[in-house]
Amino acid sequence: MKRSLGAVPAQELHGRRVLVRVDYNVPLRDGRVTDSTRVDASLPTLELLIERRARPVLLSHLGRPKGEPRPEMSLAPVADLLAERLGREVRFVAPCDGSGAVEASRALPDGVTLVLENTRFLPGETANDADLARRLASLGDLYVSDAFGSLHRTHASTVGVTEFLRPAVTGLLVERELQALGRLRSAPEAPFRVAFGGAKISGKIELIEALLDRSDQLLIGGAMANTFIKARGAGTGQSLVEEDALDVAERTLARGGDRILLPEDVIVTADPGEPESPAWATPVDEIPEDAAAVDIGPQTRSTYAEAIRGSRTFFWNGPMGMFEQARFAEGTFALARAAAAATRDGAFTVIGGGDSASAVRASGLMESVTHVSTGGGAALEFLAKGTLPGVEALDDA
Ligand code: 3PG
Repeated sequence: MKRSLGAVPAQELHGRRVLVRVDYNVPLRDGRVTDSTRVDASLPTLELLIERRARPVLLSHLGRPKGEPRPEMSLAPVADLLAERLGREVRFVAPCDGSGAVEASRALPDGVTLVLENTRFLPGETANDADLARRLASLGDLYVSDAFGSLHRTHASTVGVTEFLRPAVTGLLVERELQALGRLRSAPEAPFRVAFGGAKISGKIELIEALLDRSDQLLIGGAMANTFIKARGAGTGQSLVEEDALDVAERTLARGGDRILLPEDVIVTADPGEPESPAWATPVDEIPEDAAAVDIGPQTRSTYAEAIRGSRTFFWNGPMGMFEQARFAEGTFALARAAAAATRDGAFTVIGGGDSASAVRASGLMESVTHVSTGGGAALEFLAKGTLPGVEALDDA
């Protein structure tokens, strides 16, 4: 257990500069944030700090600018959105490590938040450079880690900074994430079922193996299913297949046996990129040579939905098809609805971040499942290993 912000006495916050690492790695289009989930998820911590009359100083990365300033990856638009959400003044300073930033942190009045420019505009961030970490540490009197989505990264603002700044505690978002994902690891009530989708097996193999040991059934969909289908010896036509992962898929199938469910039918089309191209459902062992699987089929949807509704614990990562196209989103939305129904029946349901979280958001069911993680890679790594570098670096409770 890590020490949490809630356990820090109010007098230790009053008037103090609190350096908060948030994950504002959000999508931007034309200088506006197009998905505010991660900003909204940071509000409880910030509101608590403001209520306790602390001075929040926020650090985050955005995108992968490779150590140099890239105007299109500035956090300025995110600071504007935060001001709207908090209904309070938010100041913005660039760069995040200079004397200007230190002065701005010292000059913060009550109720005002400071957002600093993208940490990845500096090469020392991803290199976890000690000098940068020391400079970042001088921006606060204590450190709050609330960037759950970034805690699998050993960077100056997530790990290095804690060498120079204590106390270093979890924010309310990180605390909630660790509780929800921790419960999946330590005490999942049976039946515990897991759904995996998305394109690749390779980045997830450690987790698939870990969950194969700990869960009752794995439901596979998305392009990842094609690799398993091919590994089982069936034809996959023009479907996306991860050739390099075929042997891993074969081993996993041999180990998992009938605890691994693969699609019985799929939606196929000859030209997935062409919105008018005809699409139809076909049994999985009859995928035509000139077509590609793009979603799970109706029979699979109903089998998977039934399995999910009969679960007491459910974890899901990765879409079931090319859900960006509405006509191939049926499988993904069917899983979201089944997860919501299971939650209503008292199941504990967690959606891993990234695309599956976007899909649940698009289906309007965010509030209808137990927990939607703000972390993609971080959530998966935590589930596989039980900890993250950015968690290890913090104070014990
Ligand atoms: C994420 O969105 O997964 C995190 O913000 C980490 O971003 P990264 O993969 O660029 O390190």
